[in-house]
Amino acid sequence: MTLTFSINDRQRLQLAPLEIPTRLLLGPGPSNAHPAVLQAMNTPPIGHLDPAFLHLMDEIQSQLRYVWQTENPLTIAVSGTGTAAMEATIANVTEPGDVVLVGVSGYFGNRLVDMAGRYGADVRTITKPWGQVFSLEELRTALETHRPAILALVHAETSTGARQPLEGVGDLCREFGCLLLVDTVTSLGGVPIFLDQWGIDLAYSCSQKGLGCPPGASPFTMSPRAMEKLQQRRNKVANWYLDMSLLSKYWGNERTYHHTAPTNMYYALREALRLIAEEGLANGWGRHQKNVEYLWEGLEDLGLSLHVAREFRLPTLTTVCIPEGVDGKAIARQLLNEHNIEIGGGLGELAGKVWRVGLMGFNSRKESVDSLLEALRQVL
Ligand SMILES: Cc1ncc(COP(=O)(O)O)c(C=O)c1O
Repeated sequence: MTLTFSINDRQRLQLAPLEIPTRLLLGPGPSNAHPAVLQAMNTPPIGHLDPAFLHLMDEIQSQLRYVWQTENPLTIAVSGTGTAAMEATIANVTEPGDVVLVGVSGYFGNRLVDMAGRYGADVRTITKPWGQVFSLEELRTALETHRPAILALVHAETSTGARQPLEGVGDLCREFGCLLLVDTVTSLGGVPIFLDQWGIDLAYSCSQKGLGCPPGASPFTMSPRAMEKLQQRRNKVANWYLDMSLLSKYWGNERTYHHTAPTNMYYALREALRLIAEEGLANGWGRHQKNVEYLWEGLEDLGLSLHVAREFRLPTLTTVCIPEGVDGKAIARQLLNEHNIEIGGGLGELAGKVWRVGLMGFNSRKESVDSLLEALRQVL
């Protein structure tokens, strides 16, 4: 019997070769990747169990420990964007009924609430107006009230530009016998962080911001205390792809196949981490701080005001108040169309009220600030 099939050509396009405009990405992320990182990404892929690739994974683990300032053995890059690493933290240590206390003062705190709920947590929240941060006393009161298994905080709230101070929070969490989970997506590489000294048990980040890489391979780490909670689970982790008891066998000594690693993303991440080590962590943090202060000065000279109190402002992300009578979206569109510069608009409660300007990783340079200020001068 002969079967005949006919090809349906309706969806077939005659595509032109790929052409993407060159942009200066000064929004909340992604930021521009370092040219050396893009070059590394162009290296031909090899097998994800090739000894050379396994060696590269070891280097990534070691360098991630350096940028986070941790000795955590389980420190890896999750295949996926920051949200995948975020979900990995929640999925591995949350069991149905666990009380998870989330500090919400912006969009990403709310995402943690949503995620923890999906893993069956008894989610409690403490809230602050968007752009403010929690004091140690407020956190102590909340821990006394809720007695959680996990306290989750966002170090760098990308929706507001506020930096949550973390010194002392880990000690509080030990006093109350809970784990401390921290979102460092907009801080890693650009904002001082001392994971072990601050007693942080679980953290995640992304590649496309302070690390100066394209999106797609996301740092994840868990402390031995968090590992203990994972090992004592009554049920399997409810997410196969992100289950650290399986993934650790690929990243650890066993080297058991788990999934096909996105090899070229790991080349890129390795190069980004190499550049950070070459510059030195403290120098990189200093560069971010210096350039953002130059930005703040320039914005204020243009008559613009900033949303967050100076002592809590992030060096990586600045929220700029949109002046009365100015169409924020139109200005952002003009910056993109006429100057090839991307900035972000406000999210959630701050939608229509602020612009978000990122100076992260490779983009934290005086030239980026000068280009933006000059373009703003023209469009405002
Ligand atoms: C604070 C914070 N958490 C989580 C995420 C999610 O990361 P991704 O968009 O890479 O999935 C972002 C993204 O910008 C973020 O800013």
